[in-house]
Amino acid sequence: MLRIAVQSKGRLYEDTMFLFSEIGIKLGSAKRTLLIPASNFPIEVLFLRDDDIPQSVADGIADVGIVGENEFVERAVEANIEKRLGFSKCRLSLAIPKEEEYTGLQWFEGKKIATSYSHILNTFFAQKGIHAHTHLITGSVEIAPSIGLSDAIFDIVSSGSTLVSNHLKEVEVIMKSEAVLIGTPGLSADKQIILDELMFRIDAVQTAEG
Ligand code: PRP
Ligand code: ZN
Ligand code: MG
Repeated sequence: MLRIAVQSKGRLYEDTMFLFSEIGIKLGSAKRTLLIPASNFPIEVLFLRDDDIPQSVADGIADVGIVGENEFVERAVEANIEKRLGFSKCRLSLAIPKEEEYTGLQWFEGKKIATSYSHILNTFFAQKGIHAHTHLITGSVEIAPSIGLSDAIFDIVSSGSTLVSNHLKEVEVIMKSEAVLIGTPGLSADKQIILDELMFRIDAVQTAEG
């Protein structure tokens, strides 16, 4: 039995459930249960917060996981990307209040930026030689500038509507992201066989969709 960690709610949850249905994996509908075995395939699904998926795979609590690449890169844990999945696409961008005049990356010098992705942001600023303060918050990042908590934000952008409704404008795309299948290092041979079958089925639907 291969244990796969999946986000318990949100877009990635919906897209992952759709993938399972496309590749013919049926889950028992034990709602509100953390761990659900498939009825027709040797996997069990462990539902977690996306923040916790990279670490759970690195620790071997789950053998594999489906998570946003952004979340995986941010956690900087020991796990392998087994496969890029091509769904739940988004970008990680810097955004500033829309009335501000943007003068290039130098605009961020000495500024305070609210984000849930401080590792990715600090790495980027270090590479560019920009000195800015990152303020780590775990949610509602987009309201930080309007309440005086920060000058700018660094967050996930998908449709862009969250930025628009918070009077922000996207000024730099730092990273593109999509869902990835990650695996724990040193999977046993039995589990590797199941993972290979899983990836074979995913390849088949990806090829069909071209
Ligand atoms: C993300 C992000 C924004 C929103 C952007 O949150 O934090 O709130 O999506 O999407 P948009 O550009 O289509 O408006 P999400 O709801 O994915 O999850 P969260 O609970 O981690 O904020
Ligand atoms: Zn400071
Ligand atoms: Mg959000």
